[in-house]
Amino acid sequence: MNKKLLFLLVVCIGELFVTNAQAQKFDELGKTPQMGWNSWNKFACNINEQLIRETADAMVKLGMKDAGYEYVNIDDCWHGERDALGFIHPNKKRFPSGIKALADYVHAQGLKLGIYSDAGETTCAGHPGSLNHEYQDALTYASWGIDYVKYDWCDTKGLNPQVAYTIMRDAIKKAGRPMLFSICEWGENEPWKWAKDVGHSWRTTGDIYPCWNCEFRNYALSKQNILRILDEQIELRQYAGPGHWNDMDMLEVGNGMSINEDRAHFSLWAMLDSPLISGNDLRNMSETTRSILTNKDVIAINQDKLGVQALKIFREKDFEIWVKPLEKNEWAILFLNRGGQSLTYTYLWLPLHDNLSNRSLDFDKTTYLWTDLWAKTTGNTRQILKAEIAPHSVLMLRLKPIH
Ligand code: GLA
Repeated sequence: MNKKLLFLLVVCIGELFVTNAQAQKFDELGKTPQMGWNSWNKFACNINEQLIRETADAMVKLGMKDAGYEYVNIDDCWHGERDALGFIHPNKKRFPSGIKALADYVHAQGLKLGIYSDAGETTCAGHPGSLNHEYQDALTYASWGIDYVKYDWCDTKGLNPQVAYTIMRDAIKKAGRPMLFSICEWGENEPWKWAKDVGHSWRTTGDIYPCWNCEFRNYALSKQNILRILDEQIELRQYAGPGHWNDMDMLEVGNGMSINEDRAHFSLWAMLDSPLISGNDLRNMSETTRSILTNKDVIAINQDKLGVQALKIFREKDFEIWVKPLEKNEWAILFLNRGGQSLTYTYLWLPLHDNLSNRSLDFDKTTYLWTDLWAKTTGNTRQILKAEIAPHSVLMLRLKPIH
């Protein structure tokens, strides 16, 4: 090899190391769990640019934006073909105006646009994945004005997940546009152990299904009921925090469960600091669904800047108690009735300590005012709490110390 060539090679390799050593995720994003909407749960592959525009309109008009929802995310099936140079294009029939025009529209509403790809050769619905096109795709997304990338794990044939997701993280960073990076490998490779500096959130389970506790003979990845997803989070709270969240999957509020179930589902996702990505048809939702999704008191628990995921402190049969420390020595406390019978419960306000956040609740020393975040009733911790909790529902309180 001649000397000049060797020199160039050394410089190039050096450049590669420097680039990778400097690459990181966009650190300013996802400081609280991301909020938005995603097309998959309700529409699967039946998507087009009109749906996305109308959804953005609805998000603004119906108070969702005002309540904190920000991202309008296109999931699988937006893809057309790659061209001769390998650049991906949207499906021309579904997105005739192109993604850039759509991003402009969504941005003009004060919202952000998200897109979906996959670390393998094809996406879960069989469209072109980003394998070997990571840098090219990240550049394309940036040029379109994309703000969020959900990155799936189908057709990955023996790829190392940490490597594959890190390549895309670096590609996004290199493309230069802050895009929130949402890891979606269903918790199969324990992303909570390696993805803190790779993505802003990682899915912890297979796909959600709008059912409280349906039992399927064998739990397909795509049939995770609400309680099953909840139960899988127990060991994971230590891994979540500002900028890196356990993602319990997109919401099913408004997709067929009862009002109590929808409320409980939303409350639990809020308590556990999951991203709140609505997954229903925002254009045609009922007032009840809208009021659940826009409950600002519940959302405030999820968006609390302390970013400490809730802890389960008690379970007996169908009854559970979860607590979540908040900023300013406030707390959220949630009583869950998993079962089909109403429960009457008397709560004596026993003291507790959370080792993870090193915070304590001592009701002898401090009195708290509580607010029921759904019924909006109030009380204080000097009086025993006697509550009736309907089947498949929660009582969710915010506690503020009285000074
Ligand atoms: C996987 C993901 C889902 C959705 C579909 C799209 O199943 O987990 O959230 O993105 O792929 O095909």
